[in-house]
Amino acid sequence: MSGEVPPVDLSVVVPTCREVLNIEELVERLCRVFSAHGIEGEVLVVDDGSDDGTEELCARLARSRPVRLLVRRTERGLATAVIHGMRHATGRVLLCMDADLSHPPESVPDLYRAVDSGACDIAIGSRYVEGGEVDEGWGLFRRLNSRIATSLARGLTKVKDPMGGFFAIRREVLESAPPLAPPGYKILLDLLAKCPKARAMEIPIRFRDRKLGESKLDLRQRILYLRHLHCLYRARRPVLSEILLYGLVGLSGLAVDLLAFSLLYRILLVNHLASRAGSFVVAATWNWAFNRRITFDGARARARLPQWAGFLLVSATAFLLNWGTYWLLTASSAFFLAAKELAIVCGVVAGFAFNYLGARLLVFGRGAAAAEGRGLRGQAPLR
Ligand code: GDD
Ligand code: MN
Repeated sequence: MSGEVPPVDLSVVVPTCREVLNIEELVERLCRVFSAHGIEGEVLVVDDGSDDGTEELCARLARSRPVRLLVRRTERGLATAVIHGMRHATGRVLLCMDADLSHPPESVPDLYRAVDSGACDIAIGSRYVEGGEVDEGWGLFRRLNSRIATSLARGLTKVKDPMGGFFAIRREVLESAPPLAPPGYKILLDLLAKCPKARAMEIPIRFRDRKLGESKLDLRQRILYLRHLHCLYRARRPVLSEILLYGLVGLSGLAVDLLAFSLLYRILLVNHLASRAGSFVVAATWNWAFNRRITFDGARARARLPQWAGFLLVSATAFLLNWGTYWLLTASSAFFLAAKELAIVCGVVAGFAFNYLGARLLVFGRGAAAAEGRGLRGQAPLR
């Protein structure tokens, strides 16, 4: 952290990407809050090369206000921008908020005090605790989007709103945190997941929709979020998350299997047994590719062809085991002969277990284990 700037009570880190329409009002309101509450504060704007005049405006504001501008020319991304800002911050308490006035500057003292008084290590501006709210008029899609994203993080933190991006943290807590650098947006979630011992407190806020400028949350950010979740869950529950992911890939393979079969049999009019064999190869190839890329991404350096062939062999054996279990159970037991569906389930479970273990131990091998320890890709420590 830079030594030449005098330390302050509170550093407010604001990541910006084309926020010329909002940043001035944000700075004004923050300054009013600082003086009304006797907080010696600074505003650190971390801009990723906006071409809309954000930089020029911040440079002008910096002449009369406690504003510092950090510009990144090559890097992009909200979360890494926040980390960059925090690295240069001088405050005892560090706070992160959006530039678009979604997070009320007037709530900053509540968050600051909660941390500074020692009541907690991380104070979170929360939409989802009592007293917290969002603007009216959120459509079903938006609500669902937010709720689904939040519930996907349930296994990582008890915090009700780990996605809001409005939080304050004690400097020492951040400095002793493991390396952070989530892909995408969710810096707070990363912190909460990696610092389970930090005491978090949620403080209700009213989250307002942005009035000016455009949101940068696009499909890419949603995919990055899924990747981020994958990394966090894998670090916390390596085996369980691997099995779950393997199952999910397998389910998607089932859809591919059906699609390929229909195409071969119904449209290309191939004999049904040949179609079945063909669709199996297509689906197994699909599963192999996704498992290589996602589930066991540590094994990506291996040669493709033998790995693919090995995976097909394991899958075919698993299929035989699945079918054979059914046959054996129904042929040898009156109970299963009556409860054939149960025999099917037993076959599926046996087949899946063999499939997973075969892939884990024989096909993707130790490379998979290497990926577990590695956590997030390409991250630099905060310190
Ligand atoms: N430096 C930098 N680089 N800043 C960025 C980047 C980037 O690549 N992308 C976005 N920002 C800044 C924006 O300028 C804004 O200040 C803030 O990050 C949030 O981005 P928005 O574009 O307003 O996205 P959002 O409203 O969808 O997301 C925010 O609200 C969500 C809750 O609804 C974020 O705070 C999310 O973390 C939060 O979940
Ligand atoms: Mn926003």
